[in-house]
Amino acid sequence: MVCLGNICRSPLAEGILREKIKKNGLDWTVDSAGTNGFHTGEAPHRFSQKIASQHGIDISHQRARNFIASDFEQYDKIYAMASDVLHEMKQIGKNKFDASKTALLLNEIKPGCNLDVTDPWYGPEAGYQEVFEIIEKACEAIVIKYATHQKQLSTVHL
Ligand code: 4NP
Repeated sequence: MVCLGNICRSPLAEGILREKIKKNGLDWTVDSAGTNGFHTGEAPHRFSQKIASQHGIDISHQRARNFIASDFEQYDKIYAMASDVLHEMKQIGKNKFDASKTALLLNEIKPGCNLDVTDPWYGPEAGYQEVFEIIEKACEAIVIKYATHQKQLSTVHL
């Protein structure tokens, strides 16, 4: 899960998906990162922590890290919160950039629409609520899509 600062949107996406992974007994690993490096080492924004906590999700232990080219080797699927983030991921990834592993998060709920998760950084607290809700829907869609796919594959292997 990748955004610009790794303090507002992607830490929420990481926390929300991790919770769903746990609830569904999946063996997936989830992480998040930022492309601009301005907040490396910082905890998530207090409003991201607050809205997550209101939904029973603790993201206080997460720390911002930089998105790096080798993330394209490390992870199977990399979601960008917005088009500007995707552009930065291409710049950072250079020859390791893998379009087949990359998607805009909201295309999981509005395929082909190329919508951004609005950056709440410059706005009021209410923005974090909206961001939580849309990311939650997208993460639910990811679990339905890939957990079902994983189950089908394991059935085939039996
Ligand atoms: P995020 O929000 O990408 O959702 O973490 C931002 C946080 C900080 C900045 C930009 C976006 N910044 O420029 O410092």
